Amino acid sequence: MENKKLLLQKLHEKNHSTCCCELKYTVTQPVFGKGNPESEIIFIGEAPGKKEDIEGEPFIGAAGKFLTEMLDTIGMKREDIYITNIVKYRPPENRDPSKKEKEDCAEWLSEEINTINPKLIVFLGRHSMNHFFPEEKINSAHGKLITRKFKNFNTENFLPLYHPAAALYNGSMRETLIKDFKKIPKILKKIKSNSEVKS
Ligand code: URA
Repeated sequence: MENKKLLLQKLHEKNHSTCCCELKYTVTQPVFGKGNPESEIIFIGEAPGKKEDIEGEPFIGAAGKFLTEMLDTIGMKREDIYITNIVKYRPPENRDPSKKEKEDCAEWLSEEINTINPKLIVFLGRHSMNHFFPEEKINSAHGKLITRKFKNFNTENFLPLYHPAAALYNGSMRETLIKDFKKIPKILKKIKSNSEVKS
């Protein structure tokens, strides 16, 4: 565990110094992924917001608080999971990250995923999902497990969810997100029993 933690720290420092994303020159600091390096799940958001940029931690604003509450409903804590973003730098005025900014941070994310090697990747919002599955639409894909083998990492299971910031003040989206979130333990159990059958 200590080794993997160290490995992740080195990975973040290396990528921050080599990353060509121009956003790095306008931010307070990079926002590295955070959490349990042995986690079976990685949550992937879009990009840090204002609070995250100031504090240097992912999902610590209102959306992060909502995420922590949803984790609680399935018996999990932030320390149990690993959470990161597609883009590690806050886009100015919280605009959407551009295609180039996402591409510039893509190798960093792949290395992060490969180091943790989770059983399940949960996308928080359409930006995160479309980075891996450009053809999918969040309104139809949310809450449904997608199984696909990519050549650059082992994880084959992906669950798209609405972004907690988008759902926070939208009654029906909020209910849907809470309902989808509660599927996570069952999905994880199914993935684990399928991998036992395969091995
Ligand atoms: N929204 C995101 O997508 N990521 C964060 O870290 C915070 C808000």
